[in-house]
Amino acid sequence: MCGIIGFVGREQAAPILLDGLARMEYRGYDSAGIAVRSETAGLQVRKAKGRLQVLDELTHGGADLEGVLGIGHTRWATHGEPNDINAHPHVSENGRIALVHNGIIENYMEIKEHLIKQGVTFVSDTDSEVVAQLLEFHYNECHNMLEAVGRCLRRIEGSYALGIICADYPNALIAARKDSPLILGYGKNGNFIASDVTAVIKYTRDVAYMNDGEIAVITADSIDVFDSELIPVDKDHHQVDWDVSAAEKGGYPHFMFKEIMEQPEAIAKTVSPRLRDGRVVLDDITLTAEYIQAVSRIFIIACGSSYHVGMVSKYNWERLMRRPVEVCLASEFRYSDPLVDEHSLVIVISQSGETLDTMAAMREAKRRGARTLAIVNVVGSSIAREADDVLYTWAGPEIAVATTKAYSTQLVLMDLVGLYLGDLLGAVSPEEYAAIVEGIQALPENMRKVLANVETVQYFAAQYFNHNSIFFIGRNLDYAMGMEGSLKLKEISYIHSEAYASGELKHGTISLIESGTLVVALGTYAALFDKAMSNVVEVKARGAEVLAVTTEEFRERMEKVADGTLVVPAVHPVLQPSLGVVPLQLFAYYVALQRGCDIDKPRNLAKSVTVE
Ligand code: M6R
Repeated sequence: MCGIIGFVGREQAAPILLDGLARMEYRGYDSAGIAVRSETAGLQVRKAKGRLQVLDELTHGGADLEGVLGIGHTRWATHGEPNDINAHPHVSENGRIALVHNGIIENYMEIKEHLIKQGVTFVSDTDSEVVAQLLEFHYNECHNMLEAVGRCLRRIEGSYALGIICADYPNALIAARKDSPLILGYGKNGNFIASDVTAVIKYTRDVAYMNDGEIAVITADSIDVFDSELIPVDKDHHQVDWDVSAAEKGGYPHFMFKEIMEQPEAIAKTVSPRLRDGRVVLDDITLTAEYIQAVSRIFIIACGSSYHVGMVSKYNWERLMRRPVEVCLASEFRYSDPLVDEHSLVIVISQSGETLDTMAAMREAKRRGARTLAIVNVVGSSIAREADDVLYTWAGPEIAVATTKAYSTQLVLMDLVGLYLGDLLGAVSPEEYAAIVEGIQALPENMRKVLANVETVQYFAAQYFNHNSIFFIGRNLDYAMGMEGSLKLKEISYIHSEAYASGELKHGTISLIESGTLVVALGTYAALFDKAMSNVVEVKARGAEVLAVTTEEFRERMEKVADGTLVVPAVHPVLQPSLGVVPLQLFAYYVALQRGCDIDKPRNLAKSVTVE
């Protein structure tokens, strides 16, 4: 996730900005930059792709940029690949306004086209530069920076945290926020803005949190905050009482836990720019109705958790498109002489975009003439660059080896694509289309409800953490979801675990069920709940202990049989795995915690598998 810092005060800004950016390195980034206003040189901007060290060396630790007012940014690419030009700060055409931006400007194309018609020249591929150019446009109209910011914010749609400096304003930094965090820091030698308390904690613990719609004018001695109508607002101050080491994970004990908790926000970022007026809008891809009608086979190719997303999506896409969908392990696909040709559509799913097996499978599919669409998190990664079309999940950087928010954003993005293609094929009824769109919009809020129950999951993890072998059972979507629950558990807790389609138990595996075996029974798929119950009764009769996951609707029935029950809100069946997987992620996390495992870096595993 991108990081913002801004400073105005009685000390040189550049070293403070570089130090603040370094403290936010844990969030992950692909490029960084700073802009400082100097009495003599105006706005000076330095940007560099790669590690902060490159920027540090480029500016000699900030010593090259003289000035007491500045902004800094670490970027995680969303619009446009990671490079020096797309890095922030972005500067308006006349070079007098510089800004840093976190978030996504949803209507940037429309504004960009309008400004291009007015003669404005753009240099980057980013949505953020549009804000800088729009600001200059309005500033030229009104010659008042605060008024120009107000006008600009009224035109942009989407999410933003903004830090703005203008060569004409030697003493002031302007900040604004909507749906992207930004704090104000009150220091002794100057004042700050930051997207993350970590960036300023060395200088001050006295902070205020900006609310959506607020604009702040920060000088060395004062911070004035206004609402969207530019009416002054009083801010409550808060004292930050945690230490710097805790802050490195944003106050969370592990990156995995932080990333689990970030899921509602991550899903909102994936989804909101792609839903307009109740319709799925996928501007980034070029698949037409004629093309999809003519496709004879659809493949989904991936590894690990991304493959599990494919498993869930197979059920969902076949329902939405009424077309067969084949899910393949990338490591098997390329050696299987696959029946792929120019009439095939191949969907490739990868968080990192660098998984070697997935990349090799995609190349094999392309070699055989297939068209490829990649679902990727890391912008500019190899898979993203080589695929015919790419859709980014925009989950932000995922640092824990065990994927959580990338899985969830892949899943919801696959739902959007399935709905889009199903609609092109005329296979989804308007009612179902509307119900799924509504359900997707409500997903972040429903996920927050699930996350509010962490303590219940923690309680059950404490009960069951010392089992040696755990089975996850379920049918249909619950089975596919169980595969992910099982992988999460085994990779971070080192407990042997298997996911089975419940109906398969009696074909062999049930012989392993004995007194005390733990079975995680998944019963969230309403259409097959009765069958799920029969399987719970079946394993209970053989002495298993059962921890169940179900929906509110079935809680009472499940509680009568299972030893423990975790409940999630009932949503449209297509979306149910997005909620059901969350208690499974938390269960794996708390079990691993109880067992004293290295949660963020489990043994023998790497975040990105770039070898065969
Ligand atoms: O980056 P990718 O999505 O291509 O990675 C695929 C798998 O290596 C990955 O999902 C792995 O299974 C995760 N560590 C599971 O949490």
